[in-house]
Amino acid sequence: MTRRDFLRRLEAMSAAAVAGASAIPFTGCLGFYYVDSTLVGSRVMVRRSEFGANPFVLVDAPSEALPIFVIRDDDGSYTALSTRCMHRGCQVEPAGGRLVCPCHGSEYATDGAVLKGPTERPLRRFPVSVEGEAIAIELAGPAR
Ligand code: FES
Repeated sequence: MTRRDFLRRLEAMSAAAVAGASAIPFTGCLGFYYVDSTLVGSRVMVRRSEFGANPFVLVDAPSEALPIFVIRDDDGSYTALSTRCMHRGCQVEPAGGRLVCPCHGSEYATDGAVLKGPTERPLRRFPVSVEGEAIAIELAGPAR
């Protein structure tokens, strides 16, 4: 088992523990689900089929210290968020239909909006476009 595999397994166990304590779980969510991606210029490309039945996935990006959370919305659009908490930088975790920071308890909606402090700023959001069977996450340029 590589260090990366170990960390992913540890994250999955953590997410399952947090999700188990939540009242409103993600449908079908049993843990984190990393997918393969390809970097093309400043964009991370992910095949839409990588989602499978999962409502969200995590994607590694070379320029980001933490993975990107990508959720497929009901209308077929996608939202990509940094998992870096805007309070002090811990990695937020998907749990109960929101993203929760294990460090000081901040909570974010799946569009990045703040639900609960101490954070006062939303998660960084990356522009996403659908291009055929893939989605493109733009790492450069404006993000909120
Ligand atoms: Fe996330 Fe403090 S680092 S709540």
